[in-house]
Amino acid sequence: MKKNIAIVAGGNSGEYEISIQSGSVVEKNLDTELYNSYIIVIKGSDWYYLDKEGNRFDVDKNEFSIIIQGEKIIFDCVFIAIHGTPGEDGKLQGYFDLLAIPYTSCDQTTCSLTFNKSFCNRIVYSLGVNTAKSILLYKNQKYKTDGIVDEIKLPCFVKPNSGGSSVGITKVEKMENLQDAIKTAFKEDDEVIVEEFIDGTEITCGIIKSKGKVYVLPITEIVSKKEFFDYDAKYTPGMADEITPARISEKTEKECKTTSVYLYENLNCSGLVRFDYILHDELLYFLEVNTVPGLTEDSIIPRQAKVMGISIRQLITMAIEDALDRKSKT
Ligand SMILES: Nc1ncnc2c1ncn2[C@@H]1O[C@H](COP(=O)(O)OP(=O)(O)O)[C@@H](O)[C@H]1O
Ligand SMILES: [Mg+2]
Repeated sequence: MKKNIAIVAGGNSGEYEISIQSGSVVEKNLDTELYNSYIIVIKGSDWYYLDKEGNRFDVDKNEFSIIIQGEKIIFDCVFIAIHGTPGEDGKLQGYFDLLAIPYTSCDQTTCSLTFNKSFCNRIVYSLGVNTAKSILLYKNQKYKTDGIVDEIKLPCFVKPNSGGSSVGITKVEKMENLQDAIKTAFKEDDEVIVEEFIDGTEITCGIIKSKGKVYVLPITEIVSKKEFFDYDAKYTPGMADEITPARISEKTEKECKTTSVYLYENLNCSGLVRFDYILHDELLYFLEVNTVPGLTEDSIIPRQAKVMGISIRQLITMAIEDALDRKSKT
């Protein structure tokens, strides 16, 4: 019998639209011989399925089900396509754990830890991987911009501590712009991280583990036409070149892949994950990990997989089968 897959998309962050695109790419590429699919949009307390005619069916949150023409639909697996909260920060993972419904991402602990850039950097650093020097500011905490600059130096990056798609991020070149950058980041989050600027080449490595086997995708080099890989560069065609495989030495490629597998295992990741780095003077600096990476037609992971000869359909099937397989072992 075909399995019912809920593709959850939307979410409560600036990445809503991108998530809707990822969700529809997942739906379009789902193997219809194996699965029935339902895109469930989540936005605040609104959770609903929209059918092709535009009829809306609200989700019963007590058991994550919907009723269509008198028939109750329950789900065998959830494909999480929400970037940012509540799909990438552990909240939905905790909810689905309570309901014992398998899902495609990392577990709750890993998602909440890795979505918090400051916590994640500290763990990654303790695992022996280079990270940028940083300080964390809490809302209502008093701070002195000159003290920050003394410690972190300029230029620096100011970011919401938990965020994505570069929303609320500023590269600060001059002391007088730091205050505004901090305010901008605080609009997105109650915690703000100020990070040392790492000058170098941005590279990213996708990994998927399915049924115990780890697949390391080819590395992509990101060349932004903007000052950094900001929102426009990420989503406006032509504003960034994403080159796969990256133009890096064999030694660096090996190191990047080995480091990514090492972090995947040590952060206890599952499913599809992308690790981002900056290569500075042949030294790899960890930038962040994405536990729900973009899956739009133009996203990095589907393109990396393609270069390796894995279609997006295969990738999605691998993620779902892995989620079902993990659950059957618990
Ligand atoms: N410390 C840094 N040094 C250099 N560039 C950075 C640094 N931090 C962020 N960036 C730039 O900003 C982009 C977004 O930062 P990132 O931490 O990945 O946030 P997001 O989760 O929003 O993608 C990166 O892809 C990179 O171009
Ligand atoms: Mg990023």
